[in-house]
Amino acid sequence: MAYKRVEISGEDISRQKQIMAGLCPLPGKNGTARAFVDTYGCQQNEADSEKLRGMLSEMGCEMTSDEKEADIVVINTCAVREHAEMRVFGNVGALSHTKRANPNQIICVCGCMAQEPGIAEKIKRSYPYVDIVFGPHMLWRFPEILQTYMQSGRRMFLTEDDPGAIAEGLPEKRDGTVKAWLSIMYGCNNFCSYCIVPYVRGRERSRRPEAVLEEARRLVSAGYRDITLLGQNVNSYGRDLESNISFAGLLRQINDIPGDFRIRFMTSHPKDASEELFRTMAECSKVSKHIHLPFQAGNNRVLKAMNRGYTAEEYLEKAELARRYMPDLVMTSDVIVGFPGETSEEFEDTLRLVEKVRFDALFTFIYSRRPGTPAAEIPDPASREEKQRNFERLVSLQNKISAEKHAAYTGRTLRVLIDSMGEEGPCGRTDGGRLVRVKGDVSPGDFADVEITGSNTWALYGKVISDKK
Ligand code: SAH
Ligand code: SF4
Ligand code: F3S
Repeated sequence: MAYKRVEISGEDISRQKQIMAGLCPLPGKNGTARAFVDTYGCQQNEADSEKLRGMLSEMGCEMTSDEKEADIVVINTCAVREHAEMRVFGNVGALSHTKRANPNQIICVCGCMAQEPGIAEKIKRSYPYVDIVFGPHMLWRFPEILQTYMQSGRRMFLTEDDPGAIAEGLPEKRDGTVKAWLSIMYGCNNFCSYCIVPYVRGRERSRRPEAVLEEARRLVSAGYRDITLLGQNVNSYGRDLESNISFAGLLRQINDIPGDFRIRFMTSHPKDASEELFRTMAECSKVSKHIHLPFQAGNNRVLKAMNRGYTAEEYLEKAELARRYMPDLVMTSDVIVGFPGETSEEFEDTLRLVEKVRFDALFTFIYSRRPGTPAAEIPDPASREEKQRNFERLVSLQNKISAEKHAAYTGRTLRVLIDSMGEEGPCGRTDGGRLVRVKGDVSPGDFADVEITGSNTWALYGKVISDKK
């Protein structure tokens, strides 16, 4: 694939900044405009929404979580499964009422679904009160898009296919104060046969390491304690850069930033998870000993039909190798049940793999047909009931394993990063990312030594034995 990495020029970004300054403050129904940004899908989309909020703030908007009082509504969508799309259409449908109450409300639909063939057409036809539709490649041009719309009053549909570029220097308004997302790359080149992501997010492209490091330093000095590096396949970071830096190399450089913080990353593709990565994780004290390594299926015929590029045996070897470097490694994974043509016998291999690896947690999905992907053309004779039954067997097997693994923590003392205050007290995460409900005098942002006193399938319970600020 002859794709050349493109970075949006400084002048183009400056132009967006000028537009934001010129529009500020955006007028609204009751004075200053209020904006509601609603996010579906993965962490990449969360990170994009932080940019949308950043741009809206620069234009003087206040944020609201109530679409009824919003002057601007932005729905940042996900296309990965049909269910996510149905939810979006349901919620966009409900906006007809808010628009009727406030005819000047500007309604935007953006994100992965907007980039999917046919979706913009459907919105144009069936949702006449949606004013602006734009795909992920247009995100950096949001100020200009808004300005053009406000000047012309004409509906806009900006969803041309594009391999994608990198836009640096956009403002951000982050959701949290303890945990932060840091995109290190965009797009995907893997074309797993079931997956829509490469079609809507464009080709794989890496941010320059200097830009990533600068952002990481900024986050650390702003007090963030948990930084998650994002990419569809972080293991191929840097392949499109001249500097020859690998993902492991980038991890080491971020690990060298002074300060008390944790580094996480997702997602790793098993075909590219290397011994160098495991060694680096083991050697870098700030890198969490957690890997999210989606295996998707346990049967080799199915894995091949999915175009995953590894066998179940190779996956198991990688998992073993990772644990040799990090005996306490927390492993999580994604699995698809009911890929077209997967037989019940083949599904047994998925259960067998789960039993062998004993993941700490699994994200399980029933296959969802994505028109335009190769798997959408494969005959799919298994009934929904059969898939559902297999799905439930997988979930109950994993729940049993998760509960057993959690129970083994009892009596241990773990370093927990407190990240929120729940109704029943502080909550935090272990280095491996396990949820801990804590008793003790601690606040978000604290690292605390917590003795684990109990557990269930989803969480650990514990009490603070010392609090290190
Ligand atoms: N880039 C990541 C995953 C992104 S999508 C990776 O390769 O690991 C997150 C998860 O959604 C995938 O791991 C997969 O398990 C699931 N998924 C993707 N497409 C799907 C589909 N068509 N039906 C059901 N699940 C799907
Ligand atoms: Fe989708 Fe595969 Fe890319 Fe992940 S690696 S985003 S599953 S095509
Ligand atoms: Fe993420 Fe969904 Fe897009 S999973 S990349 S928001 S299709």
